[in-house]
Amino acid sequence: MIRKFSYSPKISTGAVVKNLPASDLPLPYFELKDGVFSYRMSDSACVYGLGEAIRGINKRGWIYESWCSDDPFHSEEKRSLYGAHNFLLIDGDDRFGVFFDYPTRLTFDIGYTDPAVLTVTPAELALDLYIIDGDSLKDIVREFRALIGKSYIPPLFAFGYGQSRWGYITEEDIAAVVDKHEAAGIPLDMIYLDIDYLDSFKDFTVNRERYPDFEGFVSRMRARGYHLIPIIDAAVKREEGYSVYDEGHEKGYFCKDENGEDFVVGVWPGMSCLPDFLNPEASKWFGDKYKALTDAGIDGFWNDMNEPALFYSEKALDSAFEKIKAFEGKTLDALSYFGARDVFTRLSNAQDDYDSFYHNAPEGRFRHSNVHNLYGYKMTESAANSLKALRPDEPTLLFSRASYIGAHRSGGIWTGDNHSWWSHILQSLQQMPGLNMCGFLYTGSDIGGFNGNCTRDLLIRWLSFAVFTPLMRNHAALGTRSQDATAFGDTEVFRRIIELRYRLIPYLYDQFLKAAENDEMYFRPLSFDYENDPAARTIDDQLMVGDRLMIAPVYKQNAAGRNVYLPEQMNLIRMSGGEITAEPIEQGWHFISVPLSDVVFFSIGKLPLAEPAKNTAELDFDHLTYIGS
Ligand code: NOJ
Repeated sequence: MIRKFSYSPKISTGAVVKNLPASDLPLPYFELKDGVFSYRMSDSACVYGLGEAIRGINKRGWIYESWCSDDPFHSEEKRSLYGAHNFLLIDGDDRFGVFFDYPTRLTFDIGYTDPAVLTVTPAELALDLYIIDGDSLKDIVREFRALIGKSYIPPLFAFGYGQSRWGYITEEDIAAVVDKHEAAGIPLDMIYLDIDYLDSFKDFTVNRERYPDFEGFVSRMRARGYHLIPIIDAAVKREEGYSVYDEGHEKGYFCKDENGEDFVVGVWPGMSCLPDFLNPEASKWFGDKYKALTDAGIDGFWNDMNEPALFYSEKALDSAFEKIKAFEGKTLDALSYFGARDVFTRLSNAQDDYDSFYHNAPEGRFRHSNVHNLYGYKMTESAANSLKALRPDEPTLLFSRASYIGAHRSGGIWTGDNHSWWSHILQSLQQMPGLNMCGFLYTGSDIGGFNGNCTRDLLIRWLSFAVFTPLMRNHAALGTRSQDATAFGDTEVFRRIIELRYRLIPYLYDQFLKAAENDEMYFRPLSFDYENDPAARTIDDQLMVGDRLMIAPVYKQNAAGRNVYLPEQMNLIRMSGGEITAEPIEQGWHFISVPLSDVVFFSIGKLPLAEPAKNTAELDFDHLTYIGS
């Protein structure tokens, strides 16, 4: 059962697809006082949800903020990342879900200030709130998902393996990556194009020196079985003569400052303007620009920098240069030195800038900071709407960095700029169920880690986990060590792991479709399936995948294996040197040895396996073998 409580929202976010009447009964569970919602948690209550937010599957014990943030340092103390996913599922003496449909900053103090109290504080009391009751955790999620609409389903090839890195400059670089993977017999479906393919980082252009015959290159790659997936950034370079800028400027499609002038920010292309995705006309205009690439044969995109990320604003940069003059020629003590340094370091993603531009939405003019969390969501929706018209016969691969609930209907998301850290394998695993609750099913993290330098063993373990994530993409930052599957010498072990992914696609894709169609979670904490098992409730480094799999990846350096909890008897499935075997294991705790050459996971009943294939197009879904009993 879902009850809606309405507190004069100022804008319709579009997150929910059902128009429920607002209840005039008292708000259950929460006390509302001075604009703050509080709920007293029972001692044993677990709090699930908040989508992409980090710090464990059970969110209790920390403070979170919904504020889409371009933050390349996902350390434990962070309160927000790129997504704003305001759904919580409380499982204690009470069991209910709650969704705060609110477009800007919202603080969730989940036992941080008072260990027994959950408070939710919006910047202003102007929101819709939904309370969801149900018979089980899965039931509550199903009801919530029915409220927010069906999840995006990508094309089958999006379940293949993808290789990406910032810094593949020319088409020869891309071709070399493909050749290396082919020579090593490593299955591959997608190669990603980062901003290097663009002409001066201008959206919807191609650098013709680097790609003299882009269309031909795309089609030659397709003929070999590969999809090229270009990046699209939110901001449009301010350059007269560049048609996207000229049109956007003339038609008034960019966000404006308080005087009605285009608000100018610095991102990769230098001074740029922000398309006003909250304005339906501007949104359609930008979405239709993807045609430049679909006409060239492109069938997948990743949308980036759409929090929106601002390195600086033109105004703030000008005033920083003014301010820094005051320090010149002076003897600086430590504090004034730091003051001087911060003149520039504080420019990025500054609240002042988010306060200084406006959107032209159907409901009227909105200051950006009052609708901040909708920006990336609306960019993805803009692309999805146009792509449906541009490519009506097949789904287009689409995923984004920033998001809000509602974006899950238009595309997937990836979890942004993580690090080549062992702890980030676990962090990625722990993000998955929260994302799934909020409808983001097509998701995954940069395999091997984006920032920092990856090692052979880290990549092996990370891939062994990512075999199960719908988005399986190896991606790294400019200037980091190569970390593709051929980068560490002997490629055999990498080939075997990626081959295993392809062998499992019949199961994984089927379970994904089922989760999307039935509003279920593809990844679930064990406690969702084994509600009466107290041990299952404590496990936060294993997940259920679809109906019949459980994963327990190794995420520690030099570990020879790990402890695994089996909530019931299962088959231990072991892939070792390409051989796949199954052996029954009793319910309970076990130490499972997992050498680097092996991938281990668990099944309930028989599991279908395809024959190894070079790419998804060559997968034979009609001749499956079954393993386990
Ligand atoms: C930030 C994105 O998160 C990252 O994946 C990408 O490589 C860089 N932008 C450069 O485009």
